[in-house]
Amino acid sequence: MRRAVVPGSFDPVTLGHLDIVRRASQLFDDVVVAVGTNVSKSRLFDADERIAMMRRACSDLDNVSVEGFTGLVTTFCADRGATAIVKGLRAASDFDYELQMAQMNSSLTAVETVFLPTSPGRGFVSSSLVKEVAGLGGDVSAFVPAFVSEQLRARLG
Ligand code: PNS
Repeated sequence: MRRAVVPGSFDPVTLGHLDIVRRASQLFDDVVVAVGTNVSKSRLFDADERIAMMRRACSDLDNVSVEGFTGLVTTFCADRGATAIVKGLRAASDFDYELQMAQMNSSLTAVETVFLPTSPGRGFVSSSLVKEVAGLGGDVSAFVPAFVSEQLRARLG
């Protein structure tokens, strides 16, 4: 059985993330979405909230489960017997850092990173921009699930 991990901070989950998770679920037998913390980013939703949102958003995908993780993503992959990390690439600007992480991760443990190009029309969608737009009163309903839109409104006013 081929298991992949899709790691991210998902603060909050966007339709871009869900597109990558869905496509990963078609490529692998089993997918674990690993909700972690990016130490270089500030957070709006805490870990439990982000895990709950991701679980709800993935509830229609039979071979996808969602777990929180702390520590190294490679340790999480080894503990779960996952042989691949799946990451979405939006633009060339994502590539340098993602390549560095992929090479570091494969140096730490035997795990491959598989990059999936973001679907056309989703390349500009990021959690950071969604939070900025929602915080300034903009409509983000085209970029996140409806229930996430509501949670953003409740949190940011
Ligand atoms: O959605 P993000 O913010 O790009 O997610 C980044 C995340 C959480 C996947 C990344 O920061 C990560 O893997 N953190 C776990 C700690 C770790 O393994 N660091 C070394 C990476 S080479």
